[in-house]
Amino acid sequence: MRQMFVAGNWKMHGNKADIKSLITGLNAMSDRAGNAKVAICPPALYVDYVNRSLSASNIELGVQNIAEEPVQGAYTGEISADMVKDLGCQYVILGHSERRAIYKETDAEIANKVDTAIRSGLTPILCVGETLEEREAGQLEEVISTQINAVVAKVGINAFKNVVIAYEPVWAIGTGKTATAEQAQEVHAFIRNLLAGYDEGVASGIIIQYGGSVKPDNAKELFSQPDIDGGLIGGASLVAEDFMAICEAAG
Ligand code: G3H
Repeated sequence: MRQMFVAGNWKMHGNKADIKSLITGLNAMSDRAGNAKVAICPPALYVDYVNRSLSASNIELGVQNIAEEPVQGAYTGEISADMVKDLGCQYVILGHSERRAIYKETDAEIANKVDTAIRSGLTPILCVGETLEEREAGQLEEVISTQINAVVAKVGINAFKNVVIAYEPVWAIGTGKTATAEQAQEVHAFIRNLLAGYDEGVASGIIIQYGGSVKPDNAKELFSQPDIDGGLIGGASLVAEDFMAICEAAG
């Protein structure tokens, strides 16, 4: 039985005052998550501040990126997986479509970062998803397979026991256009089948989150699908009441 898992991706949002009020709300409402696993991924600069303010023991921490290089060295401006781990994080979001599209991260770089994260004891949340053009051109399965196969080729299928996948159709991110529960389920089942081609045990155990305009009013239906194991939440994770309502829908 897979545990439902909801993670909040704050993206590049927040300042100390906003974060203080958000964390106060999360601390007060954390019980609403029930049996669901919960994590929040603030901007790396604020992780320590968040950690010191967070009293809810059922909320874990993550970041939104790491360097490809694992430990430390002359890499100006970068943050290593070991540093992230040292600050008390368990998760790192990798391969998000914003990093693929804006920062031109390639499948090879993302695979290296997944490898680095696992070696440092972090759990990568590996994001995959198609653009609207790719979906309309009938390339959805090819796009998702290429994104996942590149990582399997680098780290091996057994390493996926320590990976969470987030399916995020690019056209649904921050647009208010959620995939229907059926559309999302179809892709989640495709991903699970793809992994089953490598290893059935890994496929049946892996957590596959859905991301893209998840809100309190659509979370329950999405999370009730057999292959949807929770969500990666952007905008709604910045509002304590909304985020905890989504966690409650998973719990
Ligand atoms: O990582 C989160 C996703 O990009 C979803 O963002 O919930 O604002 O659509 P959103």
